Amino acid sequence: DWTPDIFVETTIAALKEKLGNDKVVLGLSGGVDSSVAATLIHRAIGKNLHCIFVDNGLLRKNEFEDVLNSYKGMGLNVKGVDAREQFYQALAGQTDPEKKRKAIGKVFIDVFDAEAHSIENVSWLGQGTIYPDVIESVSVKGPSATIKSHHNVGGLPDYMKLKVVEPLNTLFKDEVRLVGKTLGIDDTILGRHPFPGPGLAIRILGEINEERVKILQEVDYIFIQSLKASGWYDKVWQAGAILLPVQSVGVMGDERTYEGVVSLRAVSSVDGMTADWSHLPYELLGDISNEIINKVKGVNRVVYDISTKPPATIEWE
Ligand code: XMP
Repeated sequence: DWTPDIFVETTIAALKEKLGNDKVVLGLSGGVDSSVAATLIHRAIGKNLHCIFVDNGLLRKNEFEDVLNSYKGMGLNVKGVDAREQFYQALAGQTDPEKKRKAIGKVFIDVFDAEAHSIENVSWLGQGTIYPDVIESVSVKGPSATIKSHHNVGGLPDYMKLKVVEPLNTLFKDEVRLVGKTLGIDDTILGRHPFPGPGLAIRILGEINEERVKILQEVDYIFIQSLKASGWYDKVWQAGAILLPVQSVGVMGDERTYEGVVSLRAVSSVDGMTADWSHLPYELLGDISNEIINKVKGVNRVVYDISTKPPATIEWE
C-alpha cells in the first residue's frame, strides 16, 4: 500500500542515486506542487538544487516577499528575481486572453533561461509535474496545456534541453499534500488555493497596468483575508477577484462617482474541471463588499459571480 512515509524515503534514495553530484535548476511558483518537488530534491542533493522564484508583478499582495521568506526558512537555495517591469512591458496594450498568456509565457522563458545560464554546469531541470498534468498534456487541451505548449513557440529555450526530473509525476494532488505534510512543509503552503500561472493578468479584464494590478491586489487581499478570518478559506476550493473593464456610477457624500467594478469568485470543486459557486453567507459577502468599497480607491461596486462550471469557467479569461 502507498504511504507518504515510504514514498518520501524511496524517492529521496532514488533521487540521490539518479542525481549524484549533478546540479538541478527548478522554478518555484509558491504553489503546492513546485514546493513539494523542491523539498524532496533538496533532501536528496542539498545545495546542488538551485531554485528560482520570479516576481512577474502579477502575484497576490505581499506574495513574493512572504513566499520567498518561507522558502528561505525551509533551507532552500532560492533566488528571487524581480522581473515585474519586463512583464508589464510585454503586457502593455494586450487585452486578448490568449495573447496575454503567450506574452507572459515568453517573458517567463527569457527570465528563467537567463537565470539558469548563470548557474554553472547545471544539467537537470526539476519540475513539480503531477500525474494529472501528465495525462492532460497527452489528451485534453486545458488552459494549462495551452500555456505549456506555447513554451515551444520559436524553438526550445536552452533550459528545456536539460534532462528533466519530476519526482511527483505519479501522484495526485491529495497525495502531494500528504507527502508535503510528511516533509514538514508549512500548512500555509500546503493549504493554498490553486493560482493560475499568468496570475492576476487573467483577472484584469482589459488593460493591464501597475495601477490596475494594485487595485486588484488590494481587493483580492481583503477578500482572501476575510475568507481566512471567517473560516471559509479552507472550505472553498479556489477564490479570487476579477477587475472588470467597466466603470459604474456611484455616490460619495454629495459627489457622483464613476469608478471600477470588481467581481468576487469563490468555488467548490474537486479538480477544477467542474465547479459550483460557493454559497458564502450574505452577511460575510456584505461585510467584504463594504470593506472593499470603503478602503480601495477606484472601486465603487462589488458583485458576486454565481455561475457554475460548465458552462462558465472558473476564471473569466
Ligand atoms: P478555468 O477557468 O478553465 O480554470 O475553469 C480551471 C483551473 O485552471 C486554472 N487556470 C490556469 N492555470 N495557467 C494556469 O497555470 C492558465 O493559463 C490557467 N487558466 C486557468 C484556474 O485558476 C483554475 O484553477
